[in-house]
Amino acid sequence: MKLHEMEKCAPSSDWNVLYWVIGTILMPIALPLALINIWQRFRAQNYRNQLPGKVVLITGASSGLGESLAHVFYRAGCKVILAARRVQELERVKKDLLALDVQPAYPPTVLALDLSELNSIPQFAKRVLEVYNQVDILINNGGISVRADVVSTAVDVDLKVMIVNYFGTVALTKALLPSMIKRKNGHICFISSVQGKFAIPQRAAYSASKHAMQAFADSLRAEMANKNIYVSCVSPSYIRTQLSMNALTGAGSSYGKMDETTAKGMSPDKLAERILQCILRKEPDVIVSDLQAKIAYYLRHILPSAYFWIMAKRALKLERAEKKKD
Ligand SMILES: NC(=O)c1ccc[n+]([C@@H]2O[C@H](COP(=O)([O-])OP(=O)(O)OC[C@H]3O[C@@H](n4cnc5c(N)ncnc54)[C@H](OP(=O)(O)O)[C@@H]3O)[C@@H](O)[C@H]2O)c1
Repeated sequence: MKLHEMEKCAPSSDWNVLYWVIGTILMPIALPLALINIWQRFRAQNYRNQLPGKVVLITGASSGLGESLAHVFYRAGCKVILAARRVQELERVKKDLLALDVQPAYPPTVLALDLSELNSIPQFAKRVLEVYNQVDILINNGGISVRADVVSTAVDVDLKVMIVNYFGTVALTKALLPSMIKRKNGHICFISSVQGKFAIPQRAAYSASKHAMQAFADSLRAEMANKNIYVSCVSPSYIRTQLSMNALTGAGSSYGKMDETTAKGMSPDKLAERILQCILRKEPDVIVSDLQAKIAYYLRHILPSAYFWIMAKRALKLERAEKKKD
């Protein structure tokens, strides 16, 4: 081959720049990330083998994501304690679990819990500890939502959402923490929401409660770092559950509708499996969402003015839709 023909085959200077960027900038970042990922997967598999016999308390286990979490941890051989207000529904979940062919299988425990009854929570925690003397994994999942704009939301509703989602969760965490600290062992997982990362119109109370939960989790994680107690905060986008059906209106009545976004949301079973992985890998902060929510999250932090503009448009659209209905 002649020299000028060889030159034609050689990579152009544009390609050389690209190779240089990949080799010099991207590879040193991508390679350690890939190695960390492989190491985390290996570690998760090791921890998975340690799951059988672990005591897992799941709040809000009577439906939706909590029910799926109950299945995932029960199938992993854990001793699950199911808590919520509707004991009949918890008994249904327990019956479904007992029907599974799982080894080892520990009969699930059902305990009534109302997160809005803050004074009853220390007593509830005592009953929990009486069952197995310990809680290895606490999953703070129980919660409610609201569907209303700020102006038409009664302060009582703001309070209720905050008490159930935030103060009830805080009270339960605090009631169980001393036993975890004493054993120098434990994992606390908070089920937040992408709305705990950025707020959207018509969800002020809900977003505020999840933002508070995120902040509490971040502070707690730092304080527990040298005590062998791990804190994870999981922020999912829409999940296909009864959350919108069970949501409150601004006046405090039941919203009782299945939102299109919720109906098209992710599978609670798949998310529950992802949460199990998050706990196994001891991941501190996880967003599980579609691309749209991820873009909104980054916009909120990198380009807030664009995010504010989009949210203002969305608020206007929702307001017009409400007026049309009247
Ligand atoms: N669905 C979504 O799109 C979505 C998205 C992001 C995050 N999340 C979060 O995921 C978690 C689970 O919600 P979900 O989607 O599975 O909705 P869900 O089907 O309505 O489940 C909510 C659970 O919380 C329990 N709960 C409600 N109020 C309670 C109280 N006062 N005391 C104790 N338990 C209470 C309910 O049980 P009882 O009624 O029997 O008490 C139920 O088991 C919530 O924290 C929610 O904020 C949901």
